[in-house]
Amino acid sequence: MIGLDDSSLFHEACLIGGVWSTASTGKVLDVTTPETQARLGSVPMLDRTEVAGAVAAAHDRFSTWSRTTAQDRAELLRAWYELILENARDLGRILSAEQGKPWAEGIGEINYAASFIRWFSEEARRLYGDVIPSNSVNRRFLVLKQPIGVVALITPWNFPAAMITRKAGAALAAGCTAVIKPASATPYTALALADLGQRAGIPAGVLNVVTGSARVIGDELTENVLVRKLSFTGSTEVGRQLLAKCSQTVKNVSMELGGNAPFIIFDDANLDDAVQGVMASKFRNAGQTCVCANRIFVHDAIYDTFAAMLSKAVAELRVGPTFAEGSEIGPLIDAAAVDKVREHIDDALKKGATVLTGGGLHELGGTYFKPTVLANVTVDCAVMNEETFGPLAPLIRFGHEDDVIAMANATEYGLASYVYTNDLNRSWRMAEALECGIVGINEGATSTELGPFGGFKQSGLGREGSKFGVDDYLEVKFVNIGNVR
Ligand code: SIN
Repeated sequence: MIGLDDSSLFHEACLIGGVWSTASTGKVLDVTTPETQARLGSVPMLDRTEVAGAVAAAHDRFSTWSRTTAQDRAELLRAWYELILENARDLGRILSAEQGKPWAEGIGEINYAASFIRWFSEEARRLYGDVIPSNSVNRRFLVLKQPIGVVALITPWNFPAAMITRKAGAALAAGCTAVIKPASATPYTALALADLGQRAGIPAGVLNVVTGSARVIGDELTENVLVRKLSFTGSTEVGRQLLAKCSQTVKNVSMELGGNAPFIIFDDANLDDAVQGVMASKFRNAGQTCVCANRIFVHDAIYDTFAAMLSKAVAELRVGPTFAEGSEIGPLIDAAAVDKVREHIDDALKKGATVLTGGGLHELGGTYFKPTVLANVTVDCAVMNEETFGPLAPLIRFGHEDDVIAMANATEYGLASYVYTNDLNRSWRMAEALECGIVGINEGATSTELGPFGGFKQSGLGREGSKFGVDDYLEVKFVNIGNVR
């Protein structure tokens, strides 16, 4: 149905210890496409014992994989990266079919995903320890960096490829072995990536993929003592639950959680650039990213001009079927996602906001939603406090820098933020004042494998990508050598 050049990339089975496996009970989970709600296929509904089997396979392999040379791991990751690029067309088709984003954007995500594997293939060779100058003539002090062990990687549906490679690339480079639990809505990209990992020569058991009930798998991965670390990308609500469960076995954790990104446009900004920035940040993946602009603060002096410019650009966005040429905005993931956007619009309208463009379901029906701009949104609106995760751009007026900083920081979240200004001093002040892990200054597309991705406050713990990303998978060991003569 998806129309692949290499149909063997489409797996309806889990990868455990190098073997494509089904559930012993025969139970499966259906997967549908957001484009038409048609069934794409099914994946196994593993029980806890089977998930424990995947952890055991990763654990068995850890003793040899963790002792491979950095060069061997680097070369295997590089081979995986090259296979991902060679198969980008098929991977993009699988990804877009299960996730809904336009195919061009799906292929874009595959390239983004591949960039993490290339980056960590290079980083694998640079995991240096330290020699600490001693305070004694007879002692020597060393610091070793060693892989944590078996890691569980729980990934979301909005980036079915990139969130896997950003975690797995770092984990494998460090010498960890992994059990991946992809989102139930988007398992096929994960399984295809794992297949390519196998073809690249990554040994059996290093990369395992399990599917089924999030609760059952989550319980096993958080309670199993062989799992030494959990890395999760998803909502803050689920993150809190996983953190609580991981506390029982004191697991190392990385959490990439929700956001409520402020996008601030000052009166000295280049407004064309600011419109482009909002389009890139807000409407990527139909607004379904953790770093999407969620609250757009516009200086009073340019508010009307900017609102008109943005509304025009948003009205021109092409909403269309996932695989139609030229589609820029695909369907939302499911009906609940549509309800959330609607709730935020209705709530804002009740509190005095007005619709500048969009405002409801698109004529295509299903879960296609019109990209929307709301004017005169106020701080008491739900959209100011919760992540919409959809194509809704609310505009809020501000007058003074101090006020906008206070409003921007008045949230439990602290992932991404954006500032448009041509005042260099203000850029610095804003970059330092915003309580966020990522600040885009005159830039709406901040994500790259080169930069650390992660949040302050309840947006998470740890960093992914960049030279910092691999640290999340390494233990630091102090070696104190005494009686040296
Ligand atoms: C996310 O939304 O979870 C990730 C977005 C990104 O990597 O840019």
